[in-house]
Amino acid sequence: MPRIMNRREALKLAVAGGVATTLQACGSRLSHGAPINAETAPRFEAALPIPPVLEPARSDEHGDYYEVEARKSTAAILPGKHTTIWGYNGIFPGPTIKATRGRATHVRFTSKLQTPVVAHLHGGHTPPDSDGWPTDVIFPAGHQVPATSMAMGHMGQSGQMAEAPALKYEHNYTYPNDRRAATLWYHDHTMGATGHNVYMGLAGFYLVEDEEEGSLALPRGRYDIPLMLCARQFDHDGSLRFNPHGHAGTEGDVILVNGAAWPALQVERRKYRFRILNASNATTFTLALSSTLPFAQIATDGGLMARPVEVPRISMAMAERVEVVIDFSVYADGDSVVLRNTEKPGPLGEIMRFDITGPAVSDHSELPDHLSMIEALTPEAATRTRTFTFGPRPELKFHNPPIYWAINGERFDPEHAQANPLLGDVEIWRFVYEKSSWKQTHPPHVHLVNFQILDRNGQSPRVHERGWKDTLRLDSGDDVRVIMRFDGYRGRYLMHCHNLEHEDYDMMMRFDVV
Ligand code: C2O
Ligand code: CU
Repeated sequence: MPRIMNRREALKLAVAGGVATTLQACGSRLSHGAPINAETAPRFEAALPIPPVLEPARSDEHGDYYEVEARKSTAAILPGKHTTIWGYNGIFPGPTIKATRGRATHVRFTSKLQTPVVAHLHGGHTPPDSDGWPTDVIFPAGHQVPATSMAMGHMGQSGQMAEAPALKYEHNYTYPNDRRAATLWYHDHTMGATGHNVYMGLAGFYLVEDEEEGSLALPRGRYDIPLMLCARQFDHDGSLRFNPHGHAGTEGDVILVNGAAWPALQVERRKYRFRILNASNATTFTLALSSTLPFAQIATDGGLMARPVEVPRISMAMAERVEVVIDFSVYADGDSVVLRNTEKPGPLGEIMRFDITGPAVSDHSELPDHLSMIEALTPEAATRTRTFTFGPRPELKFHNPPIYWAINGERFDPEHAQANPLLGDVEIWRFVYEKSSWKQTHPPHVHLVNFQILDRNGQSPRVHERGWKDTLRLDSGDDVRVIMRFDGYRGRYLMHCHNLEHEDYDMMMRFDVV
């Protein structure tokens, strides 16, 4: 009996076609020369790039209007090489979008890529039609989907033709920005292809500012710097090599910060604020400074913490953000400090370098004792607890490396909600990763809400995760409870693992706020 293909599989097929084409193109451009990897790529030579801030096309009393186009272009990621990337407005990282709490951002999103794409604002409190549903994709203007690639025939035979997606050439996203100041990011979220699309470069910062934060004397302007960390692999000629290792996840042997391999930043002898994002597909980091001085951490995913905390190490699963203040006035002219990843030995254990230069300068910025008010959500407020287990698909458990992933044993089904929280309700969600021999982290991420971690394996959350969060680290054997209020919008949303290949291979679920 012929297998019935549903829409999601048809879309995945179409997307897979796009991926195959890209990879072939990469393969045929292979040239000779030393392989590019941790041993051969130069470290701390490139200056840290800072992504440009996007100017609105226009503004009115309803907010600011931006134009963002996904397209192919080239980037100077490695010295002397040109790398083909997919970038928002042709750059990687994409342009930074700055928003102010209470003032809406409108993004008209178009694409020139010959593959479906959809954009999502990670960490946003966003109405469902602007949240970037994985099948709510757009194509380049005028694009006709070839019957074979879209597998329309299959859908017709299966009787699902009526549901075939209508082609869209743009999407207008509205982000109300009604939540507190925070470091968010936007990235691709296409069904079955998020890993590949983000890997090619479709990710950018989205910074929300508000009055509470603005009233503090934190370092600002050119002393407030976003750092997008990710791992990538390259072919000899500098082209990106996408190797998801089955469905395990695409790791890398070159570390990029803001799209440059192992860059360096010249810093003055004063305080800086760094907004750090782990935008990797499948690579975790544990940050530390080579000087062994601790970080002063000021923010988590959802913005400022109650007060700064001193932490010697900060673990970052994929999609997590932390903000730190580093005071370089304690160093001398000519000193260098390396931002390290203590999870890896050798070059992969290093991320970037700060080169301290110049005389002592006057610094009017401050690290206040108190940063923000955080309303603690308490378990008594919760109407229910739901438990979600993260693991391989039960019937495929013994594959190594694993193929296909599941939440509570179920694959992602865009038509089926696995949870239906009531609008306004507070719920506790418990994330469980049963001990397994496969040690990869599964970072759960919940759309729409910010949550607080109640406990981690029966203990208090780690110091660096005591604040508003939307993503958390879940390692083998972990059992973590979070609490959150489902407010703002009714409709369909996602919860998923933020290892992008796990997400693409079904470790994702729909929940409906009703
Ligand atoms: Cu960072 Cu569902 O996304
Ligand atoms: Cu996972």
